Amino acid sequence: MTQSFSGKVAVITGAARGIGDAIAMRFLEEGARVFSLDLGEPDDAREGVTYLKADVSNVESVAEAFGRIDDAAGQIDVLVNNAGVQRVGLAENISPADWHLVLNTHLTGMHLCCAQAIRRMRERGKGGAIVSIASAAGIVGIPGRGPYGAAKAGIEGLTRVYATETAAANIRVNAVAPGSTRTKLIEQGLKDGSIRGEWQLERIPMGRLAEPREIADPVVYLASDQASYITGQTLVVDGGWTVQGMVHVADWLRAS
Ligand SMILES: NC(=O)c1ccc[n+]([C@@H]2O[C@H](COP(=O)([O-])OP(=O)(O)OC[C@H]3O[C@@H](n4cnc5c(N)ncnc54)[C@H](O)[C@@H]3O)[C@@H](O)[C@H]2O)c1
Repeated sequence: MTQSFSGKVAVITGAARGIGDAIAMRFLEEGARVFSLDLGEPDDAREGVTYLKADVSNVESVAEAFGRIDDAAGQIDVLVNNAGVQRVGLAENISPADWHLVLNTHLTGMHLCCAQAIRRMRERGKGGAIVSIASAAGIVGIPGRGPYGAAKAGIEGLTRVYATETAAANIRVNAVAPGSTRTKLIEQGLKDGSIRGEWQLERIPMGRLAEPREIADPVVYLASDQASYITGQTLVVDGGWTVQGMVHVADWLRAS
């Protein structure tokens, strides 16, 4: 795909680093005008991306950011809900603050940004595409990831609901569920000891983490005209993590 988003505007949340940054770069390569909504400053600002400071979990902050996009671009063709945080704790001791932070960032954040984008896409009458970043952790149960797993499973549910609400306006709503991807989110888990490199690799049939670009490519695909009849779906991009039933099998049962 090249320049397939020329003349289009893509809004990506959490694009200051990690997977969001890779998604922003891919949309730039495809000719889109790109806006990032992030709490933080970009690690490595990309020429061509407009970085807006915004908290996706805050209704006023989101409304203000979309207002600024109206002023600067006057249209939105693509929304990618990617902003995220991780907090780890068992059911009986995770703090209410951590619970709400994770739910509000991922799930309420998706809802607030969708509400703004869908209203504008409908009014303009030219359709649009929304892709939200779910997770393998919303499909399988991982100890200590209560709010994260619930939020990510919620993203898949909301994807189906908003797909049905917007299909008649030619707005497609899909999700990508990544497995372990090499970003600061994973580094945080390695540092606090909630994950270990060898445990992760053992669990992934492909034997390696994803690079952020390997998540960005399917996001761009789902937002593109090549996916024009796909809506309400979650594409799992996890190197086989969630389909592996048994981690340990005899060597002769594994092709290498
Ligand atoms: N890295 C992985 O292994 C992995 C796996 C599955 C899903 N994901 C999901 O992919 C997405 C991106 O993750 P990443 O690994 O690039 O993480 P990251 O921590 O590197 O980047 C997340 C970005 O989101 C921003 N952000 C956080 N809260 C925000 C808020 N309230 N408003 C606006 N911006 C906010 C951060 O400032 C940061 O720039 C997240 O939704 C994450 O849950 C990541």
